[in-house]
Amino acid sequence: MCGIVGYTGFRLAVPVLLDALANLEYRGYDSAGIAVVECGKLKIFKKTGKINNLKELLKNKILSSSCGIGHTRWATHGVPEERNAHPHINDDCSFAIVHNGIIENYDLLKKKLNNQFFRSQTDTEVVAHLLNKQLLNKALTETNILKSLKLVCDDLKGSFAFAIVFNKFKDKIFVAKRSSPLIIGVGKNENFIASDIPAILKWTNKVIDLKDNEFGIISAQKVEIFDCNLKIKKFKIREENIKAEQIILNGFDCFMHKEIEQGAEAIQETANKVFNNTLLEQLVNKKQNINKIHICACGTALHAGLIAKFLIEKYCRKDVIIDFASEFRYKNPIINSNSLCLFISQSGETADTIAGLELAKSKGAFCIAITNVLGSRITQIADFVIPTFAGPEIAVASTKAYVAQISALLGFTKFLFKKEDIEIDYNLQDIYNICDWWKNTNFDEVILKVVKMIKDLDSVFFIGRSVDYYVAQEAALKLKEITYIHCEAFAGGELKHGSLALINDKSVVIVILTQSEILEKTLNAIHEIKSRGAKIVMFSQFLQLKDFADLFVRLPNKNQNLMPLVCAKPLQTLAYLTSKTKGFDPDKPRNLAKSVTVE
Ligand code: M6R
Repeated sequence: MCGIVGYTGFRLAVPVLLDALANLEYRGYDSAGIAVVECGKLKIFKKTGKINNLKELLKNKILSSSCGIGHTRWATHGVPEERNAHPHINDDCSFAIVHNGIIENYDLLKKKLNNQFFRSQTDTEVVAHLLNKQLLNKALTETNILKSLKLVCDDLKGSFAFAIVFNKFKDKIFVAKRSSPLIIGVGKNENFIASDIPAILKWTNKVIDLKDNEFGIISAQKVEIFDCNLKIKKFKIREENIKAEQIILNGFDCFMHKEIEQGAEAIQETANKVFNNTLLEQLVNKKQNINKIHICACGTALHAGLIAKFLIEKYCRKDVIIDFASEFRYKNPIINSNSLCLFISQSGETADTIAGLELAKSKGAFCIAITNVLGSRITQIADFVIPTFAGPEIAVASTKAYVAQISALLGFTKFLFKKEDIEIDYNLQDIYNICDWWKNTNFDEVILKVVKMIKDLDSVFFIGRSVDYYVAQEAALKLKEITYIHCEAFAGGELKHGSLALINDKSVVIVILTQSEILEKTLNAIHEIKSRGAKIVMFSQFLQLKDFADLFVRLPNKNQNLMPLVCAKPLQTLAYLTSKTKGFDPDKPRNLAKSVTVE
């Protein structure tokens, strides 16, 4: 949430900062701003809304600066207005600061700043004034700035990645970090800072990962990193594998569309790696004492976890306890050294998931992270990492990462309790078959008919039983997230216990039916719905059920365990096409951001 960038080098800073920010826009798009050091003065520009508005503002400005910082905001403290946009400044505008994270004790700190005048409602401005206070009556040297910054950071509770520029230093950016991501991009006679790789990939793929409680001074020629005691540190430069073309639209109308199409590759690449992961096999063999499995995640990642719960309980006959990370971290979960905890996160940054992981570790559980971002915070804490290979996911709505997570979990389940001679009746070839089908199938025609039925409704309901209920939950989340239609998923058997009261002759109920064992039971629910005059859209491979539906979306007849993967393509397409038809931008839904790094 929120993206920060910085540039120092030989290029004009403004276009670099704007370009870099545009590639971080998925982290927040309530407002954006930059600060550049121009002839010994700081120039600050801010605009509400998307980066394009800021670009427009700067269109005719001539700025020769080659050093600056930028920010794209997802509002936490303070409404999305210009005064709350970053960068924030101290009283005499001698420095400007951008921040990604959240200062939990900002209110208390603000009160301590007695008569201070505040221009904004943000937690970040408090940090600017605290730093100003520390610097008062001190010579503005690099050492004094670092010392003062450290003292400020010591008083902060919460998460932060800061980048600061001073009018006195024409090519230096000061940085500090705790719990929010910050990378330094290393170039030739130029250096960058950013919250995430896509921001800087156009110029360099050489990256330093700043660690928690580290500080840095970045200039065009030099990068210096300091530990928590401000001792200079050696650092590693790694090469990032993501290619610049992976983060451009390449002819697609939006990233969500592109990423749905990339689902097949994400599933295949991930399955390939996980099913052949000998380290995972050895690990699972060593962990035969495990008596309890917990899964903890948020949003779509949690829905992938639900599918794993279904598979593990079905085949391994072990209880799987699944929790929203935001609940897990506060419920005092019953875990110990015989517990295996799985944490699933596309970004590897989600604050609640990370907090859950830290908690499970402190209780001695063995913790596995499933993530799409190697090097992310989750990978630094977990005992074992199962990477997914979806490639960078830019759209806020998770699509290819979700199917990659399911693919990884299918592999994980295969290894799990292998010793107990349990026959699991799906294999790598079954998954490859689904990938081929995915690449060669287009649902647009039939899905547009569904779109027509639902686009003007206030509510859309989904039902399913068993694993289909989990698929329905994900479908409802995806649709509501980018169309702003109220969507809810019900377990088929639960309708008559209350929710049926919502159904009338205007309602459309989307039924997911892919499991033969619950076919007849789901039909009962369909009858109940139809008797109230509602319309049924059915997603199923059971052609014999066609006549029960007002609209039937035919699925291929694949291995039943893999049907959640199959369902993902038409259901993601439904969300995408409904969003487009309603005139929204599927990539940037209102009020949301891609990485939820705050609680
Ligand atoms: O990065 P994570 O997988 O931890 O993110 C978890 C959720 O915030 C995320 O899946 C969210 O629900 C998606 N926007 C849904 O499409």
